[in-house]
Amino acid sequence: MRRKLAAGNWKMNGLGDALVELRTLADAPAPNETDILICPPATLLSRAADAVRHSAVALGGQDCHANGSGAHTGEISAEMLRDAGASAVILGHSERREDHDEHDEDVRAKARAAWAAGLTAIVCMGESLAQREADNTLDIIGGQLAGSIPDNATGENLVVAYEPIWAIGTGRVPTIAQIGEVHDFIRARLERRFGPGVGRSVRLLYGGSVKPENASEIFSVPNVDGALVGGASLKSADFRAIIDAL
Ligand code: G3H
Repeated sequence: MRRKLAAGNWKMNGLGDALVELRTLADAPAPNETDILICPPATLLSRAADAVRHSAVALGGQDCHANGSGAHTGEISAEMLRDAGASAVILGHSERREDHDEHDEDVRAKARAAWAAGLTAIVCMGESLAQREADNTLDIIGGQLAGSIPDNATGENLVVAYEPIWAIGTGRVPTIAQIGEVHDFIRARLERRFGPGVGRSVRLLYGGSVKPENASEIFSVPNVDGALVGGASLKSADFRAIIDAL
């Protein structure tokens, strides 16, 4: 039985006063069967760790470098994230793939680094609108899945997030059938590559314009084990409503 996961990606949002929202989230009673993860900007991680101490809220990074340390100005290693209080890291988000020219092999190397540091890798994948309209979605997802995830995946060290690029921050959400088709496909590919035990234990998140209003419908789709939420994770009340819909 896979535990549900509500993950919030704050992206490049949040100064010190955003910790008020985090404290509100951390102070409210959490459902036993759901894991809650917030990925704030790295500048807030240590303070966020203080804010969520003794609560059910875990923390994650939004990216990490593939190397453990060294001359990489401006970069953050997986071990640094762990040291600052993170237990997971988002990798291969489409904003990283598009804005920073990250490719599957980069994501794969970062996932290896995350695992070496003891972090869960939340590996993101998704098609563009043009790819969907050309009916290439499953080919794209299959390629990203094969290329971005290292061997030795387990149900603990890997989470996969399906995020259609055209649904991110747009208010446009795929149909239930479209989400179901991709999630079933990812599940089948994971089972084929890693065996049924591991394949069935990896959690699959949907991401892209998840809001309190549409969360229940999205979570009713088989093989959707939770959500990776951007904008609606910035307000604790909205994020809480999404958690409660799980
Ligand atoms: O990582 C989160 C996703 O990019 C979704 O963002 O909920 O603002 O559409 P959004």
